[in-house]
Amino acid sequence: MMHGHPRTGAATKRKLAILGATGSVGRNTLDVAARHPDAYAIHSLTANTSADELIELCLVHQPVVAVLSGSVDEGAARRRLKEEGCLTELLCGSAALSSAVEGADVVMAAIVGAAGLAPTLSAARAGKQVLLANKEALVMAGPLFMGEARKAGAVLLPIDSEHNAVFQCLPAGRSARADLSEVRRILLTASGGPFRTMRLEALEKVTPDEACAHPNWVMGRKISVDSATMMNKGLEVIEARWLFDVEPSRIEVVIHPESIIHSLVEYIDGSVIAQLGNPDMRVPIAHALAYPRRMASGASFLDLAKVAQLNFAAPDLARFPCLGLAYAALAAGGTAPAILNAANEVAVEAFLRKRIGFTEIGPVIEHVMGRIAAGEATTLEEILEADHVARACAMDRVEHCEERAA
Ligand SMILES: NC(=O)c1ccc[n+]([C@@H]2O[C@H](COP(=O)([O-])OP(=O)(O)OC[C@H]3O[C@@H](n4cnc5c(N)ncnc54)[C@H](OP(=O)(O)O)[C@@H]3O)[C@@H](O)[C@H]2O)c1
Repeated sequence: MMHGHPRTGAATKRKLAILGATGSVGRNTLDVAARHPDAYAIHSLTANTSADELIELCLVHQPVVAVLSGSVDEGAARRRLKEEGCLTELLCGSAALSSAVEGADVVMAAIVGAAGLAPTLSAARAGKQVLLANKEALVMAGPLFMGEARKAGAVLLPIDSEHNAVFQCLPAGRSARADLSEVRRILLTASGGPFRTMRLEALEKVTPDEACAHPNWVMGRKISVDSATMMNKGLEVIEARWLFDVEPSRIEVVIHPESIIHSLVEYIDGSVIAQLGNPDMRVPIAHALAYPRRMASGASFLDLAKVAQLNFAAPDLARFPCLGLAYAALAAGGTAPAILNAANEVAVEAFLRKRIGFTEIGPVIEHVMGRIAAGEATTLEEILEADHVARACAMDRVEHCEERAA
């Protein structure tokens, strides 16, 4: 999983690029980095269309470069930066994302969804140290992404709390690439989201706000809905398969409602090593920023007596069909995970806009997976084409659901 060697003990500050700086992971990264001004300088920050939020971040963190990749009022944004006396160079358009990566030592890949694939892949191809939050990049393009990262000597450090936990529990200290021959299983924990115990009939009527009210984590809206359907865990199984180069049959999901154990690794002798901590994304972010050392994250420390009890259960695939769909896409291989991901993004967006119900998310994805045959996923073009075709099919299906409901 690790390729090359991270720079350690450098007297100079490492230059940090944050792709998706206005998001939940992006802001947590800025919070951790700001606690260590001697170790990190903010090189670049990016957002899609949140111009005002990005400008506010520029005023506080003074990056060299800022990028607004979506369609925005470029002139107004530039004027505001100038008025405030901020020297940050503002670039616009998605092609400018590569300029945000250039000149950085460390890249936090925290754009949400398929939009993160191209810039995250270019950071890996440039041999950067990539802090990988954008799981969709690995879901869509796992083998291609890992191959390119290896070729370029990029260092990949997982930010998803589960994968970061697995990384911490693996015998990574022994070699640059962890030896998994003594690992029996990787156990990814899942809180089960806000609807774990809700009556199945009531799920039809849940609102986007209810779906986004995660019991333990504060996250962006897309990943919050993914957590409520457990598609998030399905995407994480696919992410783990490529990140750790482990067969799907050795990756299991266990429901753990408290989100205190972030994941576990079981060894062939029966030992199980877990990583624990309060649910706070600053912990995995600080781990990756300091790796292979440690640094303060700002997270509160775990009070085990207060936690008192930890619970576990097997996932209920009837309640969470999306988890099964993700395993099926992984088994099908090729572009199937990209098709799953694209259909999911369209279905989640449609749910957030109240165009379809919560329980229609899974069926929309299943429909798309049944309609579009998976092909080879050896080039970025093949993967983006599958993404494109799956999106169109999912949009049609959403319209069909709307017409049926009208
Ligand atoms: N949140 C968590 O705790 C958490 C935990 C584990 C993994 N992750 C993963 O981390 C990634 C980010 O999640 P998040 O919750 O931080 O998301 P978020 O809060 O929705 O933030 C997303 C960021 O990506 C930018 N963005 C959105 N669409 C874009 C596009 N088309 N092109 C370029 N930039 C775009 C947004 O900019 P605008 O503000 O301009 O829209 C924002 O900066 C996801 O892949 C997620 O699965 C998140």
